[in-house]
Amino acid sequence: MVTAQPPLASNLRGFMARPSFQAAPGTRDLLSPDTDRWRRLTEVFADAASKAGFGQIVTPMFEDIGVFTRLGEASDVVSKELYDFEDKGGRHVALRPEFTASVCRSFAQNRQLTPWKTWYVGSAFRYDKPQKGRYRQFDQVGAEVIGTHDPDVDVELIALAVGFYESLGLVIGGDGPTGVTLILNSLGDKADRPAYLDALRAHFEASLDQLSEQSRATLEINPLRVLDSKRPQDAELVAAAPVLADFISDEATAAFERVKAGLDALGVAYVVDPRLVRGLDYYTRTTFEFAANSLSSAQNALGGGGRYDGLVADLGGPDEPGVGFALGIDRTLIACDDAGIFAGPDTSVDVWVVATTGGLDGLEIAHELRQAGLRVDRSFDHRSMKAQMKAANRSGAAVAVIVGEGEAAAGTVSVRVMQSDAQGEGGAPHIKNQQSEISRSDMVGTIKELLLP
Ligand code: HAM
Repeated sequence: MVTAQPPLASNLRGFMARPSFQAAPGTRDLLSPDTDRWRRLTEVFADAASKAGFGQIVTPMFEDIGVFTRLGEASDVVSKELYDFEDKGGRHVALRPEFTASVCRSFAQNRQLTPWKTWYVGSAFRYDKPQKGRYRQFDQVGAEVIGTHDPDVDVELIALAVGFYESLGLVIGGDGPTGVTLILNSLGDKADRPAYLDALRAHFEASLDQLSEQSRATLEINPLRVLDSKRPQDAELVAAAPVLADFISDEATAAFERVKAGLDALGVAYVVDPRLVRGLDYYTRTTFEFAANSLSSAQNALGGGGRYDGLVADLGGPDEPGVGFALGIDRTLIACDDAGIFAGPDTSVDVWVVATTGGLDGLEIAHELRQAGLRVDRSFDHRSMKAQMKAANRSGAAVAVIVGEGEAAAGTVSVRVMQSDAQGEGGAPHIKNQQSEISRSDMVGTIKELLLP
């Protein structure tokens, strides 16, 4: 029985209609070729980190909410942006908004030899206002060192991040669109805070009516975080606020001098900004941020980090100091795009298999070539020779292997040069569309020779 086909127009309408589901706000599907760049970026980072003596850690995506509330009740990340829920066992858990707290929780639980150097890559979740460069699910690479106060480690970590950015083509201290500024500050030790917080509180309270409503609320919880306000209304008061550098201990000052001397010795350009406080409450001593020239100021932080000398103890571990950084992958890729750098890897296949016999030839040939280490793809659904050759052309494959009835019967395949830059013996270029029929048993060797650079 022949069933009536709906008219073409209504078919098209069905095809074009909005799908029932879209990715949730602030989340995205990353597709190839973006995912190819993403993968290469993480490989570059993994390589740099392992060469610097870091081992990888993979932590759970969700933890007891208490792990993350240690990041500071006053920070937006905890007070507004946590994705938290009760699981079926009645546990209050949260998706990780970052990795540092999980790394410290893991250290407290698994006790590693110190200094413990570990790196990570993965997604973090913050219920933020979605916009370009700001997502509810985003990816970070990062590195942490637990168990040493030595400020040389701060320098080595910064140098690791700098080396990573530079291998993508970004330029630390550069002026143009590829430029990234390393901003540095010291927040001193926890013991230095009370006197400074008193001074800050007094400064803001003296002009409370000039302060934005949000900052007045923040002032009640943590005056330090008012310095982080980007609201124009607060700018003047923030600029005139006392600076922490005048309140920190001699020891913390000496450590900061050592960090600066180390960066100078390695030729890493930086600017000191005494108002850099960053968005998480755990920081002590060295803090830093990488800001991209090419991105608008609200989303120009490509990455950042610093010391968190009380966090491991806060999470029930030994009183070991820690220092690290995390770099946003999404923003780094946007900055690279805007600067026109860091192309993705070439993912085109070497060989396209065109088979029109209707038998198993296409399946077997593709399998044999893949087992020989070649990048291979083919058409399905018994398409015509013309359609398969069109697909071969579109794929960017250097070579097509063709098997029709004639070749199948003779135990041969036809090999066709698809790109004129495939090189022949002695470097002479093969001619595009040049085709030769060879024995099936010579197929792998002949194609490997054709593909030689
Ligand atoms: P963070 O500054 O909150 O630090 O995040 C690091 C980077 O992650 C940011 O500079 C940014 O590139 C990216 N990022 C943060 N939130 C978003 C978002 N909503 N959308 C897209 N990208 C985002 C931390 O996470 C600390 N754990 C860094 C650290 C490690 N400190 C010491 N160790």
